[in-house]
Amino acid sequence: MAAEQATKRAARPALVRVHALSKRYVQRRIFSRDKFVVDALKNVDVEIPPDCLTALVGESGSGKSTLASCLAMLETPDSGEIWFEGREISRAAACELESLRPKIQMVFQDSSGALNPRFSAAQIIAEPLEIQRRVSGRKLRQRTCELMEEVGLSADWADRSAHEFSGGQRQRLAIARALALRPTLLILDESLSGLDLVTQAQILNLLAEIRIAHSLTCLLISHDLSLVGQVADHIAVMHKGTIIERDTRQQVFESPRHAHTRELLAATRTIASAFRAERPGSE
Ligand SMILES: Nc1ncnc2c1ncn2[C@@H]1O[C@H](COP(=O)(O)OP(=O)(O)O)[C@@H](O)[C@H]1O
Ligand SMILES: [Mg+2]
Repeated sequence: MAAEQATKRAARPALVRVHALSKRYVQRRIFSRDKFVVDALKNVDVEIPPDCLTALVGESGSGKSTLASCLAMLETPDSGEIWFEGREISRAAACELESLRPKIQMVFQDSSGALNPRFSAAQIIAEPLEIQRRVSGRKLRQRTCELMEEVGLSADWADRSAHEFSGGQRQRLAIARALALRPTLLILDESLSGLDLVTQAQILNLLAEIRIAHSLTCLLISHDLSLVGQVADHIAVMHKGTIIERDTRQQVFESPRHAHTRELLAATRTIASAFRAERPGSE
């Protein structure tokens, strides 16, 4: 049954198609006037299949966040194409962008920085709905409480401010805010980093539930292949600004094609065995 569903999904066109995407930044050396160029994205080609969880992995500085920001239309690429639901969005007109933006939502790693600490949970979740003028008044409050419950937060906490929530609860809050606009694509950029193992597992379970409930396509970004590799349908590996490999999780884990992917997998296994060796009572 699961294999049948996977075959059906694979037959559908990609939700996102990125072609030859490039983005260059000019940086300045610390304590110097010297400038140098960083090619954050170099001719990136990648596809994100619909209704799947794709993990985007790679070491720090490999260009993951830059790619995510381009997909979420928060950053403009220098060249290349981004196709979303069959439309080219990297050069879309401003009015078209307004209708597209709600469909692609992003959750950032540092949720405490992204969520206004002076706002209550309800205000944080309601803000995008108010900006988009989707609902107001009693309906807005009702929708906010529904979203809180959906991400596993009690609606009794609606009037508490963001700083009263733990790290994991703030991630749930950020996810509820992102879900408010009923996106098609949810991008989570290092959202699990900095959380303890139990909380990471809880957030991954939550993702699995909301993905099904909302027919969401997820792009889960992490430098940690061991973490996201377990839950992903597909894995895309980034290295020095390019996607070096994208395939099903099984294919990447069992027959990685690129030497760098093999290095990432070896590091994953080393960490796992070191962790087992450190546990009391382990052989
Ligand atoms: N706004 C920016 N200005 C200058 N350089 C940037 C900017 N954003 C990213 N970079 C550079 O682009 C490269 C890729 O960064 P990033 O996309 O954040 O990688 P990752 O998310 O994989 O850690 C890095 O060398 C980073 O310093
Ligand atoms: Mg990043």
